[in-house]
Amino acid sequence: MRTPIIAGNWKMYKTPQEAVAFVQATKADLLKLAAAERVVCPPYVALPAVKAALDGTDIAVGAQDVHWEEEGAFTSQVAPGMLEGLVTYVIIGHSETRAYQGVTDEMVNKKAKAALKHGLRPIIAVGESLEINEAGDTEAFVGNQIRAAFDGIPASDLAHIVVAYEPIWAIGTGKSASGEQANAIIGSIRAILAGLYGQEHADAMRIQYGGSVKPGNMAEFMSQPHIDGALVGGASLQPDSFIDLVRIAIEAKGLS
Ligand code: 13P
Repeated sequence: MRTPIIAGNWKMYKTPQEAVAFVQATKADLLKLAAAERVVCPPYVALPAVKAALDGTDIAVGAQDVHWEEEGAFTSQVAPGMLEGLVTYVIIGHSETRAYQGVTDEMVNKKAKAALKHGLRPIIAVGESLEINEAGDTEAFVGNQIRAAFDGIPASDLAHIVVAYEPIWAIGTGKSASGEQANAIIGSIRAILAGLYGQEHADAMRIQYGGSVKPGNMAEFMSQPHIDGALVGGASLQPDSFIDLVRIAIEAKGLS
């Protein structure tokens, strides 16, 4: 049984004070929902305060990106060693970093390897544009992103990696994939991982769906066999909504 994992990607929302207020407002309820892994990914500047507010709990903290170099003249970037001890997870390859910061498949691979080396758990995000989707090329495109991201990563690291399938056309648009569509693509991702690492490893890997996930459609996604959780933007920003997402995931997987 794969433990569901619900991660809130707060993107460029919430000051450190607002982030801590969210944690204080949700902590007691989230602690009762231990059948799922709960992760919050605030902006970098809020990480120390959020980490301190969650110390001693099993609610995990994640960063939204990481550089692959150990250090250097890379203005604005954060090295993996700087996140050690501060976060458990790091989102890598989110479509917004691919689109606005020029992150390529090769960089995703380097970032993932650097994160793993520092004991950070990558949440590797992949997903296709509307154009690719409408051309019927989603499986091929996402498959290539997966092969590139995992290039040279040994099977022994797989237990520390989560994949997130986020169709770009579904992010922040209110237009989500259907549960069945998302399940089919995620199933194809699992098949590729099986080809790379063997069925047993592929079956153990957790793969999330992301893109306009809300409490109202969470059950539809989480009742699909291949979908192990969600990477949530907008609906992760409100305390009640985030708690509901976790509760619905646990119920849909029959874990409550
Ligand atoms: P929304 O949930 O706001 O569509 O964002 C999804 C996302 O990009 C999470 O990483």
